[in-house]
Amino acid sequence: MKFSVDSFLGDLHAANADASPRHAVREVVARAVSEPEALAQAFGPLTHGHSNVLFRSSGLLVLHIVWPPEISVEPHEHNLWAVMGIYRGVEDNTFYRRTGSGIERQGAVRLEPRDTRILGEEAIHAVDVPTLAPTGAIHVYGGDLITTARSEFDPASGAERPFDWKKSERQFAEMNARWEARAS
Ligand SMILES: [Fe+2]
Repeated sequence: MKFSVDSFLGDLHAANADASPRHAVREVVARAVSEPEALAQAFGPLTHGHSNVLFRSSGLLVLHIVWPPEISVEPHEHNLWAVMGIYRGVEDNTFYRRTGSGIERQGAVRLEPRDTRILGEEAIHAVDVPTLAPTGAIHVYGGDLITTARSEFDPASGAERPFDWKKSERQFAEMNARWEARAS
């Protein structure tokens, strides 16, 4: 079946009004990524990494993310529930929890096409793409992640600092440059 961004967003709005929005949103995302080829066709070839806003309001943010090969995103929190779904490649998630002095590793899960995952408001995760192939993902947040105050953590020391979007943009640019260099 053809994937339509408009009807996907319509379904997400309805799900976000549910009594348990994160579970309803997960169902919608799971339905979408259950046909990875339809998503791949709708979004086109994965040629560069980006985090594109499909919808943004104070109550919902929907991102189409293409992770460049081998990107490694440091541990961070969202302070919002989140639903992730994968339609291409691999997204390795490592989960952490706060300790008195920083964070400690709790576990890990590999997400592959058709996989979805709910993250609670308290979740702290790091994201790694362990392959030379990019990853295509949909991430949905129960609020406006872009303006939500939240932290990232030094992976070695666990030191907490405000999440830095500029740093994230620079990392995408750097990993995209590496990807292009390898492809040429
Ligand atoms: Fe995240």
